Amino acid sequence: MTKVTLTVNGRSMSGEAEGRTLLVSFLREELGLTGTHVGCDTSQCGACVVHVDGKAMKSCTVLAQDVNGASVTTIEGMANEDGSLGTVQQAFQDHHGLQCGFCTPGMVMSSAALLAENPKPSEAEIRHYLEGNICRCTGYHNIVKAVLAASGQDVSTLGVAAE
Ligand code: FES
Ligand code: FES
Repeated sequence: MTKVTLTVNGRSMSGEAEGRTLLVSFLREELGLTGTHVGCDTSQCGACVVHVDGKAMKSCTVLAQDVNGASVTTIEGMANEDGSLGTVQQAFQDHHGLQCGFCTPGMVMSSAALLAENPKPSEAEIRHYLEGNICRCTGYHNIVKAVLAASGQDVSTLGVAAE
């Protein structure tokens, strides 16, 4: 076991990790941050996406020891300081971008990374960026709508299917 220290959502946090411990397991089991989900463990579903040093990453594809010292943002870090939902989270709620919610942490983290790179993405750009995030419930239309809304664009004029 090796000590791993990360800055998680702005706070320094440490725990023990084996060489084979995945970042997602370290976050959930060692640091108790269970908002990041495990849907597949084989890098297909995107439920485990977090930001590592500002970049979206599937945390089931990264070893905790390999990111020792990194700055990590998880879904728990996406709320506003007063505890209210952050912009992307609020847009998902307002536009029904979730049903069971299992994919939602990863969807929100990927969407936030997209908006950091591209503040006004087109519908096609959103669909392309979110290709690595699988949702079994929503049919994706309202997720795209939520991301458009989070970017301040008028969703009524775009070709997203009606609710
Ligand atoms: S749990 Fe990481 S991609 Fe599915
Ligand atoms: S809301 Fe259920 S998997 Fe996406």
